[in-house]
Amino acid sequence: MSKILVTGGTGFIGSHTVVELHNAGYEVIIVDNLSNSNPKILKQIESIIGIQPEFVALDLCDEIKVKEFVAAQTDILGVIHFAAFKAVGESVQQPLKYYRNNFYSLINLINEFNSSVKLVFSSSCTVYGQPDVLPVTEDAPTKKAESPYGNTKQIAEEILQETCAVSPDLKVISLRYFNPVGAHHTALIGELPIGVPQNLVPFITQSAIGKRGPITVYGNDYNTPDGSAVRDYIHVVDLAKAHVAAIKRLENDEAESNYEVFNLGTGTGSTVLQVIDAFEQSTGQKLNYTIGPRRDGDIEQVWGDVTKSARDLGWKAELGISEMMSSAWNWEKYLKDNPF
Ligand code: WQD
Repeated sequence: MSKILVTGGTGFIGSHTVVELHNAGYEVIIVDNLSNSNPKILKQIESIIGIQPEFVALDLCDEIKVKEFVAAQTDILGVIHFAAFKAVGESVQQPLKYYRNNFYSLINLINEFNSSVKLVFSSSCTVYGQPDVLPVTEDAPTKKAESPYGNTKQIAEEILQETCAVSPDLKVISLRYFNPVGAHHTALIGELPIGVPQNLVPFITQSAIGKRGPITVYGNDYNTPDGSAVRDYIHVVDLAKAHVAAIKRLENDEAESNYEVFNLGTGTGSTVLQVIDAFEQSTGQKLNYTIGPRRDGDIEQVWGDVTKSARDLGWKAELGISEMMSSAWNWEKYLKDNPF
């Protein structure tokens, strides 16, 4: 059975990807320093797939520990690298924390695999900034990121591309996520924001369950159908399945070059107010919201062109906004009855 190393595998997208890797017949080993996730997720994953994946607590910034770990592995087919800090606002307040963590971990990983590994990298549509043309394709120019977090994704992609250029045995696929939302249909895993959620959907579900007050819609004066900002929301399970498709492409050596980039979205944009409406329609829960000022650093609208992902990964998002909202709500209700 092919073994995949998943760094950050107890996180939101990582945990859902572990489930889909298992479903696709892969063996998984997770490394995670649990700095932004809860170890109980391992038991939750076991409840879904019937076995607890191998887990090693490891901080990828610790070069010696990474060397020891990699030296002890003999059968890793590929790596999916999720482990990184990802809070946009926090990155503005603590840039060095983000640059140190997100770059040390990536560089240690590549170094200890001697630049000879098949790697799927967790990137973000943030690298596009506000695209000039929509939907945005993978060929669109990247723009100066609005935050140190976004900058770490841009620079990480450059580090990988430049290393691939001189390391033919390093084969990388960077996956540019749009907005991952929702939860597993079992409601046993989902997003676990720490503190007040910065992202829209976890704030919506916490507001609906009474943990938070009314939602503030950050701006309704954008040049969009209803004035609120547009994003391409994608179900986290669809996103997880795309990682399996990327690993298969690397495993079968189908890639045209040893560095490829793919957009992972639905190809459809939704405004904030449309998301709020979709939540109310799919859950029957009434939401309270107010219109506030725009949030610093937000772009007006973005949605992805996913033609290349469909053609080369053989993958398309299948779950719509209604399932995204209902699954997120079911997870929030599960958390109320089963606090982590
Ligand atoms: C979505 C829309 C907000 C909260 C960021 C990162 C991206 C990825 C996902 C990590 C925006 C509006 C939000 C609220 C609101 N992160 N909003 N009220 O900013 O598009 O993307 O998170 O992988 O890389 O950049 O996501 O969910 O924060 O915001 O009106 O309480 O919802 O202004 O228009 P964003 P988001």
